[in-house]
Amino acid sequence: MLDKILIIDDNAGIISALSLLLSLHDIETLSAITPQAGLQLLRENPDISLVIQDMNFTADTTSGEEGRALFFALRELQPDIPVILLTAWTQLEMAVELVKAGAADYVGKPWDDNKLIATIKNLMELHELQQQQRQAQSREQQARAQLQQQFDLQGIVYRSNSVQKLLEMATQVAHSDVPVLITGPNGAGKEKIADIVQANSSVKNGPYIKVNVGALPEELMEAELFGAEAGAYTGSGNKARQGRFEAADGGTLFLDEIGELSASGQVKLLRVLQTGEFQRLGSSHTRKVRVRVISATNSNLPQMIADGSFRQDLFYRLNVIELKLPALSERPEDLLPLARAFLFHSGKKLSPQAQQRMLRYPWPGNVRELQNVMQRASVLTRGDTIDEETLALPDEALQKAPEHSFEPSRELLEQTLANCNGIIAQAARELGLSRQALYRRLDKFGIPY
Ligand SMILES: Nc1ncnc2c1ncn2[C@@H]1O[C@H](COP(=O)(O)OP(=O)(O)OP(=O)(O)O)[C@@H](O)[C@H]1O
Ligand SMILES: [Mg+2]
Repeated sequence: MLDKILIIDDNAGIISALSLLLSLHDIETLSAITPQAGLQLLRENPDISLVIQDMNFTADTTSGEEGRALFFALRELQPDIPVILLTAWTQLEMAVELVKAGAADYVGKPWDDNKLIATIKNLMELHELQQQQRQAQSREQQARAQLQQQFDLQGIVYRSNSVQKLLEMATQVAHSDVPVLITGPNGAGKEKIADIVQANSSVKNGPYIKVNVGALPEELMEAELFGAEAGAYTGSGNKARQGRFEAADGGTLFLDEIGELSASGQVKLLRVLQTGEFQRLGSSHTRKVRVRVISATNSNLPQMIADGSFRQDLFYRLNVIELKLPALSERPEDLLPLARAFLFHSGKKLSPQAQQRMLRYPWPGNVRELQNVMQRASVLTRGDTIDEETLALPDEALQKAPEHSFEPSRELLEQTLANCNGIIAQAARELGLSRQALYRRLDKFGIPY
């Protein structure tokens, strides 16, 4: 597309000189000798990309007032269009004032051709970039509004593109019944994403059962998932019990912390996923269910596969669609909107210093940590503004090293295990390790469990 420039000047000599110059650079020109005619042309030609305007139009004025009025009238028609002011030296002051008010630039008469062309090209490029940006922004906003309209997003709060993309994918796969694996660090919102997948699935009206696989010892977990006949294991009592798979029949089962599932649990889960079939503990009767499985983990399953603690075939089954939730620190745009949402009911606000402190803090506990900090701070704040001190965020420099390079000592392992009354799952969580990873370390130090 050819660039089009509008020249508004009462001097026909200037118009023809400029038109000739611009045509030599492949720029088309329109021209007007009065402000009114110029404005009319701009109205009729929305594809004009720049205006060059004189400051005086009546023979006996030199004040520049006419030029100033024209500039503001142009701006009213097209708020973003670049305007170059053609000024005599006597109007320098006004030109500077108008540049402050948003005029693109001014050029003194007589002008230097090369400089004028360079200025014009720069401005038009900038203008085009800005327009592209604006279009991209409005496309993005549209995509967001559309997602919100079409789907039940369970009140999720976000601003980042990464979460937008994730939600587009989550809502897109929600309808099919393929298994979904949600990965991401502690407290990043994996369960929230699971809720969104469930709420937009074809079985949204069916049962929705959640199981935290790390919460129970291995034997109990299998009974919990698949059910057990009376007397199937020590402590199972004399009543048969239904497992969570049966309870979720026709609906959704959310398996949280799937990395904690025992080896035999993994085999059973693989079978249900492949055939829909399983047996209760202590029973040879095969049952069949139709369950949409959503699983979540903060462990590194590929690493666990390499270690031999997670089955690769099961991983492929669970991982048909992987939704990767980034850490909060990787999507800083979400931080303050989330904080405001958590504070909404308290009616309290964050001081600018508090906000800055929050943006510097790495949030290792992600959204859950943010939620807790906001809750605590709003309780402790008497007035309506939460300040930096009340946040009491730990100094990053004093924070423990990130999880992957954190190696617990023998003392810490023994101490934690004692604190948790020997419950491995609980100790593992306190230490930020998977159960398998904790077992490996206990074995390494020869600590009994
Ligand atoms: N984007 C969000 N908008 C609103 N609330 C959120 C968002 N993300 C997380 N939350 C809230 O933060 C808390 C932690 O989220 P959630 O339980 O989903 O995290 P998680 O990744 O499952 O954590 P964990 O790894 O500890 O299981 C929940 O109360 C959840 O509702
Ligand atoms: Mg969770």
